[in-house]
Amino acid sequence: MRKQIVVGNWKLNGSRALCEEFALGLGKFLSRESIVGELAICPPAVYIDSLSSAMVINEVNVAVGAQNVAAQEKGAFTGEMSAAMIKEAGGSYAIVGHSERRAMFGDTDELVATKAAQVVAAGITPIICVGEELAVREAGNHLEFVGQQVSAALSQAQSATLIVAYEPVWAIGTGNTANAAQVQEMHEHIRKVASASVNAELTPILYGGSVNPSNAAELLGLPDVDGALVGGASLELEKFIAIAKR
Ligand code: PGA
Repeated sequence: MRKQIVVGNWKLNGSRALCEEFALGLGKFLSRESIVGELAICPPAVYIDSLSSAMVINEVNVAVGAQNVAAQEKGAFTGEMSAAMIKEAGGSYAIVGHSERRAMFGDTDELVATKAAQVVAAGITPIICVGEELAVREAGNHLEFVGQQVSAALSQAQSATLIVAYEPVWAIGTGNTANAAQVQEMHEHIRKVASASVNAELTPILYGGSVNPSNAAELLGLPDVDGALVGGASLELEKFIAIAKR
């Protein structure tokens, strides 16, 4: 059985107060409701330590992760954060290759593969993001494009345990989700491509891009969708809970 997981990506948002609100609120919710599988929150890096401590202290079974990671293990790389540091701070996951990092911070396919390998080497799980721009889909090249991103990102994976997140760029933060047929088609394709590098049957493939409480059940119910990567809606406790609820 593949694990199911709903991951919140807070991006450049949040505060200490939001971390406390989530630790306490998710604790209460999990004590009385059943959820989709596992939950994780990826806050800005400075909050990883305190958010994971708050989860542990309050006995809340919610994992914490980073939104990015260094491509190097250590050394003179001012401003970077290694996968081992994320792990030591209590992180179990690191998002790698989010489209915002690819578009604005120079994360190339090659860098994404190296970062993913660093995360695996540190003993935590990369959440590798892939997804096409609207023009690529309109030209009918989306399967080929995303397939290449997946092969490149997994080129150093060597059967590692990892997660892939399909996030069509045109669906992120826009309120336009991909429809069920588009999502299922792409997830099936990603699983096929990933099988050259990892045990794809056991690799969770998440959907991301404007997931909200009204579309989550349909998307998460698709055969090849194993969870969600949630941006905007993960900043509101009620919405995040509604997405995770079963
Ligand atoms: P969104 O972001 O849910 O706000 O569309 C998803 C993401 O970028 O991970």
